[in-house]
Amino acid sequence: MLTPQQIHDHLLSPDASALIAQADQLRHETLGDGVKLRGLIELSSVCTRNCTYCGLRAGNPLAVRYTLTPAEVLAAAHQAAKLRFGTVVIQAGESTKAIPTAWISELVKRIKGETGQFVTLSLGERPPKDFEVWHQAGADRYLLRFETSDLAFFKQIHPEQSDTATPIGEHPRLYRLRLLKELGYEIGGGIMVGIPGQTFNILTQDIVTFGALQLDMIGLGPYIAHPQTPLGQLPIPHSPNQVPATAEMACRVMALARLMRPTANIPSTTALSSVDPVAGRRMGLQCGANVFMPNLTPAHYRQAYQIYPGKICVKAPEADDMGHLLADFAAIHRHQEIDA
Ligand code: 5AD
Ligand code: SF4
Repeated sequence: MLTPQQIHDHLLSPDASALIAQADQLRHETLGDGVKLRGLIELSSVCTRNCTYCGLRAGNPLAVRYTLTPAEVLAAAHQAAKLRFGTVVIQAGESTKAIPTAWISELVKRIKGETGQFVTLSLGERPPKDFEVWHQAGADRYLLRFETSDLAFFKQIHPEQSDTATPIGEHPRLYRLRLLKELGYEIGGGIMVGIPGQTFNILTQDIVTFGALQLDMIGLGPYIAHPQTPLGQLPIPHSPNQVPATAEMACRVMALARLMRPTANIPSTTALSSVDPVAGRRMGLQCGANVFMPNLTPAHYRQAYQIYPGKICVKAPEADDMGHLLADFAAIHRHQEIDA
């Protein structure tokens, strides 16, 4: 386990190659050379929140809103099973209206019953009762990136939420992640690297938090400015304390995440591939990641799930084909790990 000072030093050191080699070696020793594939299904682009960085924010009138039908979700889950992924990840914006609690329970039961796969949910800061109900329905894992461990900064980038479930003074997502763990879920958290306002001190504390929460999964990628968001329209602060939103910095953070949580499942994320379409995926897998999440959302909806512009699965949908994936893995001496 690294101390905060060591983390801070790694973030600012002129050369990260030794850190990255160490993380890659640790991943090899603890988890081997298999890459777990987890099928991502973007269930709905409807969102009631107004995160200042995200293109799906409720206040973006240009965002295209859709919700998949159960039949479309089931078809994607069957596709994942056929490709022997073993896990589907159901992700959506946050909306109790567009995504009723019972609807998800039914979907989880059907996916598990018909395909036998693990189900990961990523549906935002739902009321804690929903987490209980979904766990009873069979949901195995929950992803909720906490984005930043600094409560004041969190509030700044997540405005105007009436939230009676979180105890006063607590971080709404750290609170929920602890709760989810207590309920028996495997939990995933994470952050964006280089979001304006993120300082090296804040980022250090975020990485400490990966360890403190005992995360089972850690998702992170570079921040990508979206022009239809308040944050995307502001200039990036010119401060030596501002973390840069580069692929290189995201890789450092991924390597540090691996050192903090040697056996966690860490994906090479879409954001990383989006800023570096040629090498991003492999880069992630070579600095600590052991998971990749191919996009299984029906192709004509993908454009609408625009959290940030330039998503690789829209720009180059063929990059997620099994042929491309396996060739990419083989080039770095890795292989698909069959999960089921
Ligand atoms: N750039 C990069 N990542 C983003 N996310 C949201 N907006 C952006 C952006 N502009 C990430 C957040 C969120 C996840 C679904 O996508 O971390 O939790
Ligand atoms: Fe909604 Fe998630 Fe985007 Fe926030 S990050 S606006 S909760 S989709």
